[in-house]
Amino acid sequence: MRLRLAAVLSLSFAAGAAAAEPADMSLAKASGCTACHALDVKIVGPAWKDVAARYKGDPNARATLIGKVKNGSRGAWTEVTGGVPMPPYSPRVSDADIEKLVDFILGLQ
Ligand code: HEC
Repeated sequence: MRLRLAAVLSLSFAAGAAAAEPADMSLAKASGCTACHALDVKIVGPAWKDVAARYKGDPNARATLIGKVKNGSRGAWTEVTGGVPMPPYSPRVSDADIEKLVDFILGLQ
C-alpha cells in the first residue's frame, strides 16, 4: 500500500512537472515543426518571430493560431511562402503540445 501511494505521488509529480514546462525548440523539433519553421528565417513556413510580430496585441491570436496548427493553414502568408499550405497537426500532435507551441511562438519578440 505504501509503495502504491508512492508510485501515484511520483506519477502525479511527473505530470505536474511536464505541464509546467515551457515549450521550446526541442518540442517544436519533436513535433515536426522545424522541417518548415525556424525562429528567424523563412524555411517553408514563415519565421516564427514574424508570426509573433504579425499577431502582437491581437487578443484572438492564441485561439486563431491553435486552430490553424490543428487544422492547417492556407493563404495567410502567401507573400512569404508563395502560397504553400501548412498541413493539419491534430491529432498527430496533442492539443496540449499545440497550445504550448503557440504560446512559445507568440512569446517570441
Ligand atoms: C510542411 C511544412 C510545415 C510544417 C511541418 C509546419 N508548418 Fe507551420 N506553416 C507552414 C506554412 C507554409 C505556413 C503558412 C500558411 C499560410 O500561408 O496560411 C505556416 C504557418 C504557421 C503559423 C502561422 C499561421 C497564421 O495564420 O499566421 C504557425 C503559428 C505555425 N505555422 C506553426 C507551426 C507549428 C507549431 C508546427 C508544428 C506542429 C508547424 N507550424 C509545422 C508550413 C509548415
